[in-house]
Amino acid sequence: MHPLQCVLQVQRSLGWGPLASVSWLSLRMCRAHSSLSSTTCPSPERQEDGARKDFSSRLATGPTFQHFLKSASAPQEKLSSEVEDPPPYLMMDELLGRERKVYLETYGCQMNVNDTEIAWSILQKSGYLRTSNLQEADVILLVTCSIREKAEQTIWNRLHQLKALKTRRPRSRVPLRIGILGCMAERLKEEILNREKMVDVLAGPDAYRDLPRLLAVAESGQQAANVLLSLDETYADVMPVQTSPSATSAFVSIMRGCDNMCSYCIVPFTRGRERSRPVASILEEVKKLSEQGLKEVTLLGQNVNSFRDNSEVQFNNAVSTNLSRGFATNYKAKQGGLRFAHLLDQVSRVDPEMRIRFTSPHPKDFPDEVLQLIHERDNICKQIHLPAQSGSSRVLEAMRRGYSREAYVELVHHIKESIPGVSLSSDFIAGFCGETEEDHVQTVSLLREVQYNMGFLFAYSMRQKTRAYHRLKDDVPEEVKLRRLEELITVFREEATKANQMSVGCTQLVLVEGLSKRSATDLCGRNDGNLKVIFPDADMEDVNNPGLRVRAQPGDYVLVKITSASSQTLRGHVLCRTTLKDSSANC
Ligand code: 5AD
Ligand code: SF4
Repeated sequence: MHPLQCVLQVQRSLGWGPLASVSWLSLRMCRAHSSLSSTTCPSPERQEDGARKDFSSRLATGPTFQHFLKSASAPQEKLSSEVEDPPPYLMMDELLGRERKVYLETYGCQMNVNDTEIAWSILQKSGYLRTSNLQEADVILLVTCSIREKAEQTIWNRLHQLKALKTRRPRSRVPLRIGILGCMAERLKEEILNREKMVDVLAGPDAYRDLPRLLAVAESGQQAANVLLSLDETYADVMPVQTSPSATSAFVSIMRGCDNMCSYCIVPFTRGRERSRPVASILEEVKKLSEQGLKEVTLLGQNVNSFRDNSEVQFNNAVSTNLSRGFATNYKAKQGGLRFAHLLDQVSRVDPEMRIRFTSPHPKDFPDEVLQLIHERDNICKQIHLPAQSGSSRVLEAMRRGYSREAYVELVHHIKESIPGVSLSSDFIAGFCGETEEDHVQTVSLLREVQYNMGFLFAYSMRQKTRAYHRLKDDVPEEVKLRRLEELITVFREEATKANQMSVGCTQLVLVEGLSKRSATDLCGRNDGNLKVIFPDADMEDVNNPGLRVRAQPGDYVLVKITSASSQTLRGHVLCRTTLKDSSANC
């Protein structure tokens, strides 16, 4: 990875969603000739395989086009306990994992991490086992990202490595199956199957429920794909499996997709239309996490604060939507439904000791009721990600962001006034189509003006299908993009260091995560602003048990006196163990 293209902090930027009113039906392809309407077609070299012959003969009496139409239009949210009939060409037991071992590898944003757990939850119910050892795997699934060219290149490279693994596989073992899941499957569709013959399964972001069937088809030597985008799939009933039992925090997906169509962004094409999960099912998941003892929940979505639960009919009235002042949408105004402020209010009431965060929001959806709630509620973190993308109104217009620099700056001031001490972060793109030196200087000046605590900075990468691809010219030379990106990173670091140094001398509430990666004698946690805080592992008083000396454990809240700060980390010493409610953090 070019050092300038790496993201500052962990790139937890979200997967980004898409527009797809016309969906693909389940697409089944044979290696020799792919076609939308074909079902399966065995590759010649394996035609002797008895099991597959049997499979093919069942196919002859198998599904009709009507079958696919039916499954395409059926409502997708089903109770997890509901038992379905297998498709007519597969026997029930072929949909079972038969203890095959699945190795899952995740690329890209936090949304993909969550999707990995959804996919795993579905496969686990089908009888698959999970392995963290690649050599042991019978099925390797890559959960992929398409946001920039480099992200896709990483996957192609990985596929080349996996090819060797597949070829070397001893005949005594079941054949290794390889699947591409997520955005890249959706964006490239059959191009992946044609280019990499060793890929057996393709599943787009809305097709994970179909994984057992796709793998069953692959089992017989066919390539299988489902890149159907849905208008309503939220996996509401699929509880992602918590992989690390000692984890202090969890991500809860509340909505999927994106209707914004920013001109540079592939997400509306890979992740489909915006749709929200019903409030009741989100609350149920948060309650379960609280009962498991988790101390932090991050609400996830491509446009998390555009949340709108329309599932309750009585809320589908004509209540119009409040946007941030000076902001517009690229789509027709939406009305009614339960909005983000309602959800945030409900979620934060589940457990006062549970921190609530959310990512990634769009700046247009910060009406006063949301800001007020963040200010008032102790357990909603005072941390807002406010992706600006550029500091130049001209570039923002070309990006179709729906706001000017002035409107954005006004919103920043309004947020800082409404939520004193708020921590801000942002995404920026360097070298978008037509960006001049003057535009770039404006972005630098926005970074200086706002003084973000965290930043995620990228060089522009042209993506096919986007509006920019069709209408604009990718005319900023690569070396200029990288030079501008480098300048943005330098300025961001200087400003973040200044902003973070304001914490020196303060006492902050830190949620302990565990040992610091760099030193076995230090612990690591996060403050309210989500900044990493490192402090020596020392014994301390427990505020609720005076006289008792304790050592901090993962999941504890402790007060830390901050003694130094860099652009990415704070350091300090621990004062006492406390609770979120009782904490007396002073800044
Ligand atoms: N090139 C570079 N960066 C992009 N992003 C989205 N699309 C592109 C692109 N084509 C960035 C935006 C977004 C973040 C998740 O990724 O800054 O907020
Ligand atoms: Fe992409 Fe814009 Fe949607 Fe974010 S809001 S996912 S940048 S289209």
